[in-house]
Amino acid sequence: MKKEELYSGKAKTIYKTEDPEKLISVFRDSLTAFDGKKKSEAAKKGYYNAQISRKIFEMLEEEGIPTHYIGMESGNEMLVRAVEIILIEVIPRNIAAGSITRKYPIEEGTVFKKPVLVMDYKSDEHGDPMLNEDIAVALGIATYEEIAQIREMALKINEILKTYLDEKGFLLPDFKLEFGRVDGKIVVADEISCDTCRLWDKSTGQSMDKDIFRFDKGDLSKAYEEVAKRIVPEIFE
Ligand code: C5P
Repeated sequence: MKKEELYSGKAKTIYKTEDPEKLISVFRDSLTAFDGKKKSEAAKKGYYNAQISRKIFEMLEEEGIPTHYIGMESGNEMLVRAVEIILIEVIPRNIAAGSITRKYPIEEGTVFKKPVLVMDYKSDEHGDPMLNEDIAVALGIATYEEIAQIREMALKINEILKTYLDEKGFLLPDFKLEFGRVDGKIVVADEISCDTCRLWDKSTGQSMDKDIFRFDKGDLSKAYEEVAKRIVPEIFE
């Protein structure tokens, strides 16, 4: 059962529970982009993202990758383990899109021969600058050993997700992962959803993710519903 609010982010609100080791993450319908400068709401977005995240976390657990996921409290409320968040946004990239095409001379759609792993410092105040191992260690964010482990986990998750989503008719240009520490272990935290992945429909090439909102590409709720239909068909039965 939810107790007091612990933290409210751009798309989720985290609540305490009676058990200090467990939290409830409520996926909301609110949307933000460009450092919160663009804001909106989309019907059922929280529900679809929570269900897509649930499915992906369950799949990762089955593959032996620990996550913070425990179970669902309701359609858009996820019970998770309380973790100490590591302030690194890890972004595996398979096809060039988004910020990498603005920062470097790489054309959108370029398929990388091997995945490109980008690490950003999770800090709104500093504009999420890119990190390397030495900077992360100097900032005291993580140890070299932890970073090596995070890299290995991120690349493994990328392979699992790419294959899984390919079977569902999606390309996965890139996505963002967050990690946390709990009981001396590193686990996947936050969410993996249409808000945190780029998903392109394999046959039409259309964006089925938050780029629809960022760049006014159409009806976001409809696209997220289509993704949910392919990934969590059971919720439509
Ligand atoms: O903006 P950029 O192209 O670097 O984003 C790469 C990927 O990481 C995208 O899939 C985007 O949705 C995700 N991302 C995120 N949260 C952030 C930054 C990026 O989910 N704060």
